[in-house]
Parts: sequence; C-alpha cells; structure tokens
Amino acid sequence: MGLSQGAGAGATGGAAEPGDSGLGDGYFPTSGNGGYDVSNYEVDLKFTPEGHRVDATVEIKAKAERELTSFNLDYRGPKITGVTVDGRPAEHERKGRELVVTPAAAIGKDAVFETVVSYTGTPPTLTNPGLGSYGWNKTKDGALVTAQPDGAAAWLPSNDHPSDKATFDFAITVPSRLRAYANGEPDKPVTEDGLTTYRWHERSPMATYLATVAIGRFVERRSRAGRIQVITAVDPKYRKSLKRVHDTTVKALRWQQRLFGPYPFSSSGAIVDDPQLGYALETQTRPVYGGFVPDEAFIVHEIAHQWFGNSVSLRRWEDIWLNEGFATYAEWLWKERHNRHESTRKIFNRYYRQSGSSPALNPVPGRPGRTEMFGFSVYIRGAMTLEALRRKVGDRAFFRTLRLWATENKDGHGDTEEFIALAEKTSGKQLDRLFKVWLYQKGKPAKGSW
Ligand code: ARG
Ligand code: ZN
Repeated sequence: MGLSQGAGAGATGGAAEPGDSGLGDGYFPTSGNGGYDVSNYEVDLKFTPEGHRVDATVEIKAKAERELTSFNLDYRGPKITGVTVDGRPAEHERKGRELVVTPAAAIGKDAVFETVVSYTGTPPTLTNPGLGSYGWNKTKDGALVTAQPDGAAAWLPSNDHPSDKATFDFAITVPSRLRAYANGEPDKPVTEDGLTTYRWHERSPMATYLATVAIGRFVERRSRAGRIQVITAVDPKYRKSLKRVHDTTVKALRWQQRLFGPYPFSSSGAIVDDPQLGYALETQTRPVYGGFVPDEAFIVHEIAHQWFGNSVSLRRWEDIWLNEGFATYAEWLWKERHNRHESTRKIFNRYYRQSGSSPALNPVPGRPGRTEMFGFSVYIRGAMTLEALRRKVGDRAFFRTLRLWATENKDGHGDTEEFIALAEKTSGKQLDRLFKVWLYQKGKPAKGSW
C-alpha cells in the first residue's frame, strides 16, 4: 500500500525500468524500491537454537506500478536458497543491500504478482552510530527484531521504507519449550513432533520497520480493553513486572483514546526481552522493550506512537519529529494529568531555560540529519514545538488538530507541510512562522519571535 497522495519520497512512479534501487529518501536513499507497491507479506520462519539458524520463506504480494522486466527488494540477510515470481523460478543477484530479481517473464503494468524468497542462516545484527544495535538481535534464548529505521531488510526481503505499508501474516515455528510473538492477533498455536507453530496476523497496513518477531521463553498476560485484545509477554527474568507493564499499557490505551480518538488497531500489549538495546521500539500493536522494564512514561510514549508514527506514517525519514516529538508530548500530557505539580508548560519552561546550544535544543528537529535522527532534540524540541502550538492556538484547537491528524490519516501517511496546513485550518491562525522558528531555525527561538 503506497503513498496515498503526493509522493514526497521521490522516485515512485516516474522513473525508467528496471525498478529503482531506492526511493530517494534524504537519509536512506537506497531504502525502498521503485516500480511496485506491496500489499501483503507472508512470513514463514523456522528457528533452530542450535547454530541460531533461521529458515524462512517470505511471500510478497505486490502490484506493479509499471511494466517490470526486473525489480529490487531490500535485503541484508543470510544466504538465499531460492526466488520465484508467480510460481516460476526467477533469476536473482545480490548487489550490496539490494536483491535484484529478474522474473522469467516481464510483469505487466498494474499486474498483481507474488514473489517468494527463501533463505537460510543467521540474520545479521546491524550496528550504526546513533542507532546502536538493531535488526535481528540475539537474546539468551532466542531473538528479538527491532528494525527502525532501515533494519527490516536484515531478516525480511522487502520494500523497506515506511512509504509502502502492507498487511502481515506470520507463521513462526520453534522448539515447543519456546514461544514466538509478532504483531497483531494470534491463532491457537499448533504443536507437532516437538515443534510449535505460532501464527500472528496484522490486518492494518504496517511499515516494515514496525514488524517484529520475538522468540524465546516468556511469561504472558492477556486481557481486553473494550474491543482491543491486549497481550503482554516478558522474559522470565522480568516476571515480577509482568502485571505492572500489562496494566500500565491498558491504562495508557484507555487514556490516550480519550485524548487522540479511537485506537487505530485491534490489538495491543508489550514485549520485554533481554537484549541490552537501551531503547524501546513502537512495533505495531505491541511495542518491544530491549533489556529494561519500562516506567509509565516510557509505555505512554510507545503507545502514543501507535497513533503518531504507526497508523499515521512518515513519507520520509526527515519528518521523524512527527513521530518522536508527538510521542514525547504524550509523556508530558501524562505527567500533567497524573502529577499535580507538573504541567506541559512547566516542562517546556525548564527546557527553554537551557542554553541555546544544549542537546535538548540542537540540532533542529525538522532537519536533524541522519545520525541525529533519534537525538534528544528531536524528542524534546519536537515536543516543545507542540507546546508552542498549544499556547498559540489554545487547548480546543490544539487537541482538535491532534485528533483530526490521527483520524484523517488513519492507516495512511502525513508530512510536516500537511500537519502545518491542518493546524492552520483548525485554528484559523497563520502558523508558518511558529513552525519555521521551532523546527528549522538554529539556536533558541527568541521570545516573541513566533
Ligand atoms: N522509535 C524509538 C523510540 O522512540 C527509538 C528507536 C531508536 N532506534 C535505534 N535503532 N536506536 O522509542
Ligand atoms: Zn519514540
């Protein structure tokens, strides 16, 4: 499922055959591919603890946006054992992070086609300054996938860019002493000959970086919050925190629905596992926490991403403040709501008092650069931008803007220009200066300048 409108990300649609190797993203130019639009990934993955081996078959259903004599998938994983397109063996060649597939016959424009890629081996853990470890992370008893921003290709041959979302079906087979989790809703596990297959289905379109797989020993808690099925799984070493993480997730969900409008998905929960990642990821429906038990604000942050970042996705990574600034502002709102000594205004003021060169204020959140895309200022100054907006337009227009942003772009995409336009329309105020000063102007915004 591609961009709903105006391709901010660049090359989709126009360029010549064969399908381009990237979409021209400013930070990740080779992420994503031209020429087609994925609608579903079907992942069939078997995990063997001996040698940490993964045998996977991924079926990719896509629609050609032009005639394709060949096309690319993003792929950074282990040895490929076969590729077919519409059931016929296809030529394939690896070129760096790309897998170039040449089907036996050209695919016609608008045709829906199915590519099946099989691989065997251990998918890589990626490392990158500013990103730490991500991709396929080994754990003591299995693995945990965290793929933001360009790490899905480590384990999933894919169109690895948030501008192309798709539904997902997972079948994960593990030795019966282990369990397997992914996004969305589960079927009943099936056991045969000491192996258990866990099936999960995510029926809302999902960006590839939000797909997760968690394999290992887990203790689990399930409940419902209205129509939402909530499933929380924690590594046994954190078992004492299971109830607290689960209950806080449910509390955050209920509270944010009142604030931001209906929760966009049909399931939720949390996964707490042992790799020392030092971060969490808002994997769709069920965030993962890597190596620590999250406090309330952390859970609120990851749940807020379900509206802001997951249901409403980025068209380009440069707009990352739309994810992180909004999720951080949700934390501030939580503190305002639950601590009578705290308010978003006070939090804003504390950061505003810092020097113009402090990491809370630099680099500018609207243009942080690739290595600083998850830097402190994207979170803090991103949230300060929203507090500045709230003060300028008032609570009514502000919260209406947040709700409209989530509902009008549900299961879709949004960019900074569209958010500004919506805020202006909702408030009836001209806001270009405010956003320019807060998102793009270096140094501390001077009082009265917005
Ligand atoms: N989006 C995550 C969060 O806000 C941060 C992910 C950072 N990614 C990374 N590879 N370090 O919690
Ligand atoms: Zn975040």
